[in-house]
Amino acid sequence: MKTLIICKSIHHGNTKKIADAMAEVLNADVIEPEKINPDETKKYGLIGFGSGIYFGKHHKELLKLVDKISGKNKKAFIFSTHGIDLPLYHKILRNKLKNKEFNIVGEFSCRGYEDYSVFKLIGGINKGHPNKEDLENAKKFAENIKKYR
Ligand SMILES: Cc1cc2nc3c(=O)[nH]c(=O)nc-3n(C[C@H](O)[C@H](O)[C@H](O)COP(=O)(O)O)c2cc1C
Repeated sequence: MKTLIICKSIHHGNTKKIADAMAEVLNADVIEPEKINPDETKKYGLIGFGSGIYFGKHHKELLKLVDKISGKNKKAFIFSTHGIDLPLYHKILRNKLKNKEFNIVGEFSCRGYEDYSVFKLIGGINKGHPNKEDLENAKKFAENIKKYR
C-alpha cells in the first residue's frame, strides 16, 4: 500500500522540508490536512502526521483531521519541528492517534527556525534549521520505518 504524509507548515516551511525529505525515501504523497478528503486516507497503509509546534502542540487542522479518520489496521508516524526542545509536544496528537487505533511506528522531531514573538527581537533562533544534518536524520528515520509500508 502507498504511504501518505499529511503536513501543515505555516511559519517558515520548516516542517514541509522534513516532510519532503521523508517522502523522497518513502515514495509518499504529501498533502495538507484541509486538502484531503478523510475517505481518501483509507487507501494508505502508513500515514505520517506532522506540523510545526504552535503553542505546545501540532497545528489544529492536523488534529481536526485525525478526529475524522479511522486508524484501524493502519500504521502512523508523527513528526514536528519546534523552536525549543521540550519532550511533551507530541502528546496530544499521539493520544488522538492511539484513540483512533493507529499503530504508531515512530516519531521524529528537530529544531526549526523561529522568529515569532519575542524571538523576533533577537533576530530569531535556530537559524538555518532544519539544516543538512536534520534532513539527513529525517531520511534515516524514514529508512527505518520503510518496513512498515
Ligand atoms: C504562533 C507560533 C507558536 C509557536 N509555539 C511554539 C511552541 O510552543 N514551542 C516551540 O518550541 N516552538 C514554537 N513555535 C516555533 C515553531 O514550532 C518552529 O518555528 C517550527 O519550526 C515552525 O514550523 P513551520 O515552519 O513548519 O511552520 C511557534 C511558532 C509560531 C509561529
